[in-house]
Amino acid sequence: MKKIEEYVRTIPDFPEPGIMFRDVTSVLQDPDGLKLAIDSMIKLLDGVDFDIIAGAESRGFIFGMPIAYALGKAFIPVRKKGKLPCETVSAEYDLEYGKAEIEIHKDAVRPGQKVVLVDDLIATGGTMEASCKLVEQLGGEVVKILFLMELAGLKGREKLAKYDVASVITYE
Ligand code: PRP
Ligand code: ADE
Repeated sequence: MKKIEEYVRTIPDFPEPGIMFRDVTSVLQDPDGLKLAIDSMIKLLDGVDFDIIAGAESRGFIFGMPIAYALGKAFIPVRKKGKLPCETVSAEYDLEYGKAEIEIHKDAVRPGQKVVLVDDLIATGGTMEASCKLVEQLGGEVVKILFLMELAGLKGREKLAKYDVASVITYE
């Protein structure tokens, strides 16, 4: 059986010089890779008590939704600014390349609900830190943060030091 690492394609200098882009499309386009990725992430949630999975647009949707469905939980999308139709809370953050602003609906999380945040990858940790802030602003509790891949060299984990963070594979 192939390991997850073997499904991930790495593209140097995309989208900018100096970036090693870890591409998840090569994992997803193989049914065995897709199943292994989702099953491996679900395993990391063993014993975690939670109500909601939140996933950041857009790759966080790809991984968050099947996990929520498989475990019988709700899913909330953390969207890029301007996409959600109802009242929102929003946060700005820096990326490995560029800046962004994300938001969630104000009624997506109720005070006291336990939330697991999911994304394909942590680079600087900016997306996830901002996502956690939004959940907490609405009174939610971040009980776990889950990634398929971690780019350890960018030290994103340091931004998330107060949370329980897990990833299936790590690149140094
Ligand atoms: C990528 C990735 C994470 C984020 C990680 O998303 O899917 O969400 O960057 O970077 P960070 O740890 O430095 O915040 P991107 O913003 O490129 O959007 P996409 O999912 O729509 O491709
Ligand atoms: N998002 C931010 N940095 C990335 C990287 N190096 N590879 C894939 N997605 C990313």
